Amino acid sequence: MKFFIDTANIEQIQEVNDLGLLDGVTTNPSLIAKEKKGFRELIEEICGIVDGPVSAEVIAQDCDGMLKEARHVAGWADNIVIKIPMCPEGMKAVKTLTAEGIRTNVTLIFSLPQALIACKAGASFISPFIGRIDDIGYDGMELVGDCVDMINEFCFDSEVISASVRHVQHVVQAIQLGSHIATVPYAPLLKLFKHPLTDIGNSNFLKDWENAGLGDIL
Ligand code: E4P
Repeated sequence: MKFFIDTANIEQIQEVNDLGLLDGVTTNPSLIAKEKKGFRELIEEICGIVDGPVSAEVIAQDCDGMLKEARHVAGWADNIVIKIPMCPEGMKAVKTLTAEGIRTNVTLIFSLPQALIACKAGASFISPFIGRIDDIGYDGMELVGDCVDMINEFCFDSEVISASVRHVQHVVQAIQLGSHIATVPYAPLLKLFKHPLTDIGNSNFLKDWENAGLGDIL
């Protein structure tokens, strides 16, 4: 499973990229708005850091407007993926962009029929929103599993991005369910390295070494 980071913050992207963990980045209008920088400046900077797909979302709500924005934004860097919201106009745009060789990520997917429609339109990526489904009392991970099964069953080329990830357990389940990608915010992404038994084990190893008077290795 690939790891994307779900942020537009340059410092966070740089830090996680330096760990060798980053396969791509997802942004959305809310994440871009937080950074107080121009959209193009930010996306170009991110694309310069990360060797992998970088999702940038359109804001037009009609097909023609989406296509104009998408073609413009796609020209900023080779690794840009255009994020399109799930809606009829959006799916028309995905079909056209796919035919033009522009990769798309259909966002705001909350049901299996929406996922199927996005795959049929030719989306390169589909993004079921786990946390937001959990928030309203349903099981977001169930949708991820259903999307993976559907893609395998019908042999679509689309990849599932488990999105709206809130904690480590979401990532564990995404791995178990065969999600192609999980896009994870900075804080839970760093928590993936941690386990209390790792910390205890490491500190005990060092204590035993020191107590035995073994000294430095070099
Ligand atoms: C995905 O691409 C979205 O940017 C993101 O995962 C939304 O997550 P949220 O529900 O935490 O805003």
